[in-house]
Amino acid sequence: MQTLSDPTFRRISELMYAAIGLSFTDNKKPLISSRLTPRIQRLGLDGFEDYLALISAPDDGGEFQVAVDLLTTNETYFFREPAHYELLEQELARSKPAQLRVWSAASSFGDEAYSTAMLLSDLQQQGRIGADWTILGTDISDRVLRSAIEAVYPEDRLRHVTPERLRRHCLRGDGASEGLVQMHARLRERVRFGQLNLCQPIEDIGPFDVIFLRNVLIYFDAPTKREVVDRVLTQLRPGGLFFIGTAEGRVPCNTALTTLAPGAFRKPS
Ligand SMILES: C[S@@+](CC[C@H](N)C(=O)[O-])C[C@H]1O[C@@H](n2cnc3c(N)ncnc32)[C@H](O)[C@@H]1O
Repeated sequence: MQTLSDPTFRRISELMYAAIGLSFTDNKKPLISSRLTPRIQRLGLDGFEDYLALISAPDDGGEFQVAVDLLTTNETYFFREPAHYELLEQELARSKPAQLRVWSAASSFGDEAYSTAMLLSDLQQQGRIGADWTILGTDISDRVLRSAIEAVYPEDRLRHVTPERLRRHCLRGDGASEGLVQMHARLRERVRFGQLNLCQPIEDIGPFDVIFLRNVLIYFDAPTKREVVDRVLTQLRPGGLFFIGTAEGRVPCNTALTTLAPGAFRKPS
């Protein structure tokens, strides 16, 4: 197979940037090449040029989505960055909301959404929040969303979940499903998933009381980060909580926010 030429690399990058805001600097060329090569070979195509033509065509047979999945990282796990969940718990214990709407805005396989569902279910059980709470998970990738709806996970992804929580909220697989767990139906019915591209205008889906936008800004260049954060924050109610990944630095946006902790903010009332 031919190697990835600079012009084709640039055209693939431009396509991904225009469609979903993914920003690939020149040093990402080997990454693009290594992630797409097996797929190009499996499809029996001659090389990157042909693959670019395929994913640019209106009748791509879903291949553009496959390329997105190959080029993005969906890594996630339950209770990632536990300090955020602790802060959320403290805030909710203080405000005791009767109603709560949460958005996991780059949900990947749903670990963040179901972690939050476990926490809210437990707080409801203890009478610390009302019974009216729901969670929306959205992502650009069909593949992760299909998996999130199934809510089946390798046990290792729940390594930060306490044994009591595991017992309360998960069903353990046996036989062929040994080593897998599924979220209990009680939890699944509180969490909805849908496809949403953060780099395009979004219809009114809020207002939300809490928004997680964690570990996705890393894909975007500085202007896109700002646009995405401001766009997402239009869906947060005044006084609502906003989380980004702690490794993502200062939150780039024009919307006023009060910092509560690394990666945790409140929209002023
Ligand atoms: C690393 S995961 C983060 C998952 C979770 N928020 C966490 O912190 O564990 C990043 C997710 O962002 C999604 N993503 C990338 N670009 C996106 C876009 N333009 N719109 C929506 N989701 C996007 C990817 O598909 C991926 O599932």
